[in-house]
Amino acid sequence: MDEPDFVRMGEMFPEMTVRTTQGKMVLPTHFKGRWFLLFSHPADFTPVCTTEFYSFSKHYHEFQALGCDLIGHSVDFVFGHLKWIEWMEENLDISVPFPIIADTYAKVATRLGFIHPVEGVGAVRSVIIVDPEGRIKLILYYPQRVGRNVKEILRMLKAMQIAERHDVAMPANWPENELIGDEVLLEPPKDVEGMTARKGVKGCYDWWFCHKKIDY
Ligand code: BEZ
Repeated sequence: MDEPDFVRMGEMFPEMTVRTTQGKMVLPTHFKGRWFLLFSHPADFTPVCTTEFYSFSKHYHEFQALGCDLIGHSVDFVFGHLKWIEWMEENLDISVPFPIIADTYAKVATRLGFIHPVEGVGAVRSVIIVDPEGRIKLILYYPQRVGRNVKEILRMLKAMQIAERHDVAMPANWPENELIGDEVLLEPPKDVEGMTARKGVKGCYDWWFCHKKIDY
């Protein structure tokens, strides 16, 4: 069967060998047992991308604290990446602690669905978060003119990990939801017995809309 031309949430991250600023790596094997976040950018030495790299580097330790490694990507030469990170070190007083894929022939970008020809040349701004088993848990695309919100990406990663660990769901704007604050949501019942058991329960707006406090 032909490979699909992009990846979707829930699928395994496809195996591939990549060339990076920290040497060759086989993905997703290189990060096995840890989360990883792969983010692509349209081009080195561009202003929005530079602000994004600055922010991902500043927040690197928060990703690490969540057991998540970072890896950048663009359709550029490794030499360009090296020169750019050197420039950031010298001019912005930041070091980029994670590897960046040099996808010179756009093979990785094509396989992962980062090429959106109408949006522009090169890869779009995308984020893929992969769990410790190598399964894709989240995919985001951002337009060329809007830099990513790294704090929001951290929030999503935290929320996904908590939802998985406690088998719950996270409300909008967690942990500052307008209805239930930092509480979490229970999965709605799947049968009549479950529905009946939830009726009249404290902590429910209705049998299908229940929330609870947990220790994160
Ligand atoms: C930027 O990151 O600033 C940028 C990237 C691609 C095209 C134009 C600007």
